[in-house]
Amino acid sequence: MASASESRIALVTGASRGIGRAIARQLSGQGLRVAVTGRSQDDLAEVASSCDGPTLTLPADITDGNAVDNLFAEVEGAWGPVEVLVANAGAGYSARVDKTTDADWQRMLDLNLTAPFRCLRRAIPRMRVSGYGRIVVVASVAARIGEPYIAAYTASKHGVLGLVRSAAAELAATGVTVNAVCPGYADTPMTASTIDGIVAATGRTVEQARQALERKQPIGRLIAPEEVAAAVWFCVENGAVSGQGLNIDGGAVQS
Ligand SMILES: NC(=O)c1ccc[n+]([C@@H]2O[C@H](COP(=O)([O-])OP(=O)(O)OC[C@H]3O[C@@H](n4cnc5c(N)ncnc54)[C@H](OP(=O)(O)O)[C@@H]3O)[C@@H](O)[C@H]2O)c1
Repeated sequence: MASASESRIALVTGASRGIGRAIARQLSGQGLRVAVTGRSQDDLAEVASSCDGPTLTLPADITDGNAVDNLFAEVEGAWGPVEVLVANAGAGYSARVDKTTDADWQRMLDLNLTAPFRCLRRAIPRMRVSGYGRIVVVASVAARIGEPYIAAYTASKHGVLGLVRSAAAELAATGVTVNAVCPGYADTPMTASTIDGIVAATGRTVEQARQALERKQPIGRLIAPEEVAAAVWFCVENGAVSGQGLNIDGGAVQS
């Protein structure tokens, strides 16, 4: 039997690899039409070809001035208004607070906080009119706690959780839910870069660096991208959940 969500229209940012790729595949597997965006057209094409249903590949740097408006306009032109928004694109940056430059700070805020804000601002009016919308932001355990050497990233992720909570309160009676998922260290290219950074900074082996990150999760392993994608789907399916940050972190942060 066709699911109720069969023809819903989703936009997933940062869908060209890692967690975003798993989310795109999850939503497609549930019958949604999925627009995928990221900067690499080749990677987006690979993700689209691995999805079950209709996809749109929309290459863009989401921090460019008009990128968000253009992305939404392209989805609307092809299919109609975005009904399920997953703001996942993001990146990390490691440095001591006193070594963090203005440019590094701004880069973190532009990608991890301002771009999701622009996506919400663009998505909400049409969702409000239709009386249905699902917004999920991929934040981080860094939205919950502070760790050393990631102040700019942590500030951006704390900020985006604040955005989610405020938007959820504003939209509570409209049929639009807004949630965040907060992964621990996940098995993605971003974490591979973190491991490379640890190796370069400490002289540890790749295996030692990976084990150090695995131990950050009490379950003793990295989080699978599919486990984050399953949490996103939970937020999409359940209209009674809003304003939450779901920790997908193997028990690292209890809340
Ligand atoms: N990995 C972890 O351990 C972890 C933990 C907690 C939270 N998270 C969060 O989860 C999200 C996904 O992380 P991931 O681990 O899957 O990272 P990833 O493997 O590095 O993937 C990041 C995605 O974001 C896209 N992206 C980056 N900069 C972009 C830009 N300027 N414009 C458009 N797209 C851009 C990348 O595509 P292109 O490079 O093709 O543009 C890619 O699709 C991020 O928000 C991250 O902060 C990750």
